[in-house]
Amino acid sequence: MCGIVGYIGTQQAAPLLGEGLARLEHRGYDSAGMAVLGSSGIRVHKRAGRVRDLVDGLPKRFGGKVGIGHTRWATHGPANDTNAHPHTDSDGRVAVVHNGIIDNAGALREELSDAGVELASDTDTEVLAHLIARSEADTLERKVADALARVQGTYGLAVVHADFPDQVVAARNGSPLLVGVGEKEMYVASDLAAIVRHTTTVAHLEDGEMATVTAGGFTTYRLDASGLAAAPRHAKQLDVDPDAYDAGEHDSFMHKEMLEQPTAAARVISGRLDERFGTGHLGGLNLDARELRAIRRVKILGCGSAYYVGQMGATLIEDLARVPADAEPASEFRYRNPIVDPDTLYVAVSQSGETIDTLLAVQEVRRKGGRVIGLVNVVGSAIAREVDGGIYLHAGPEVAVASTKALTNSFLAFAMLAVQLGRVRDLSIADGRRLIAGLQALPDQVGKILAGEDELATTAQRLAEAESLFFVGRVRGFPVAREGAQKFKEISYRHAEAYQTSELKHGPLALISPEVPTVAIVPDDELVERNVAALHEIAARGGPLVVVTHEGVDLGGLSCERIVVPANERELDPILLTIPLQLLAYHAALHLGHDIDKPRNLAKSVTVE
Ligand code: F6R
Repeated sequence: MCGIVGYIGTQQAAPLLGEGLARLEHRGYDSAGMAVLGSSGIRVHKRAGRVRDLVDGLPKRFGGKVGIGHTRWATHGPANDTNAHPHTDSDGRVAVVHNGIIDNAGALREELSDAGVELASDTDTEVLAHLIARSEADTLERKVADALARVQGTYGLAVVHADFPDQVVAARNGSPLLVGVGEKEMYVASDLAAIVRHTTTVAHLEDGEMATVTAGGFTTYRLDASGLAAAPRHAKQLDVDPDAYDAGEHDSFMHKEMLEQPTAAARVISGRLDERFGTGHLGGLNLDARELRAIRRVKILGCGSAYYVGQMGATLIEDLARVPADAEPASEFRYRNPIVDPDTLYVAVSQSGETIDTLLAVQEVRRKGGRVIGLVNVVGSAIAREVDGGIYLHAGPEVAVASTKALTNSFLAFAMLAVQLGRVRDLSIADGRRLIAGLQALPDQVGKILAGEDELATTAQRLAEAESLFFVGRVRGFPVAREGAQKFKEISYRHAEAYQTSELKHGPLALISPEVPTVAIVPDDELVERNVAALHEIAARGGPLVVVTHEGVDLGGLSCERIVVPANERELDPILLTIPLQLLAYHAALHLGHDIDKPRNLAKSVTVE
């Protein structure tokens, strides 16, 4: 949430900052801004709205080879020009960009006001600029350290100061930040995406660390009670493909990422299936067979789509390993004083590995002595570093706010975990092999569903006309319905509600009418007859139906649109049933003319509570 980019070197900073901000815009798109430090001091250009408008409106004389930029998802104060970052002190000699939340900003604002400082914005960040300006320390890093000593909360920040024209100072506590190393130039960024076209040699700061960055190098420190202690950190060359951070020929990252699912799915299972013994081969769990066998319960934690795939994972684990499993929103878990049990395996699911609610839930489990593994996409992210082991999702960079390929790979990771847990219990070798063959077939089957995109687009356009929709499913199909409704509402802004098909008649059936379509998940499983009966109850009330199902399912003459997905093992159905729902959401939003990758009010990676 929110993006930071900084530059210091031999080129003009503004164009590089503009490019970096455009690449970070999925992190927040309420407003954007930049500050450059040139011969006449600091100049700031910022405004509400998109990065494109910011760059188009750049003043003619905006020179300087040092600068910082920010793209904002509003927390304190509305999205307007004044609240956009960077924020400066009253004399305009210090400029700050900040991700995170300063919890004691209210008290600090009051204190500054009492001291005669006029605050220009409603933000928490502005206090930092004033505190830095008021510090009497003799170096910029010490001034920043003085300011941070007064602050409670989370931050990733970058600072420039007119009195220190050859430095950018960066600091991290709870919000990611890295330093990128170029040829006679250096970068600061909250996400590699911002600078990947210029360098992939980076040093990630840890929480509690600061860096002083000059054109020729950087020095890192640890902030502790006594001030700044040297904490040398070296940059490493990352093995990443810069093209993976571009949408290429696609109109949106979401479209690109949906179509990448067959290759991404093949990647997550690669080298992790043991056909001979019909089991998963998940070395990263750091759990041997004895420890796996000792697990009495599995508790899955994640937010939003990561929670819904966690529900799919819980069913897989109960089905295949016969271990009681459930999923819970990580955002709720911590606040109900959960009983943390040493025989329970906790599983944190997070694409970004930065979602603060999930990270805090992981920390709560660990504080109480529980064992946590992570299903995480971003290598080296905060959650990946915090857990005891895990399964990297290898989905590649996911930029679209609406998660697709990471969710699919999370499902596959759960399937492998469930098989591995099952095989040290009652799951037979034949069943293990059956599931492994199913997993191997899955990437191609995902490709087949995606190939039907044009047909699904027509259905999506019809659904987009409705103001309100239901998504229904039962047992394995219910988390699919929840994920389908989530995707649909997230990018089409239509009211989409997920329900258990079985629960309709206990209330929500009252809302069914010819204006309220239902998307029903009806796999060819043990519940098919019950599902079909419920759909007839909807049809009898004039509710239009779109049924996501398998070839040959007898819908008893129901008048509906049918979307057919390939058959696999029943346990693996949920993910194949989910793919058409992604396409429906995408094409509905496209039809309505929405910005697919930047849905209103949302942002990628929710790093605030
Ligand atoms: C929905 C979506 C969100 C995320 C959620 C967790 O399409 O993407 O619901 O799933 O914010 O994010 P991560 O997985 O990064 O923890």
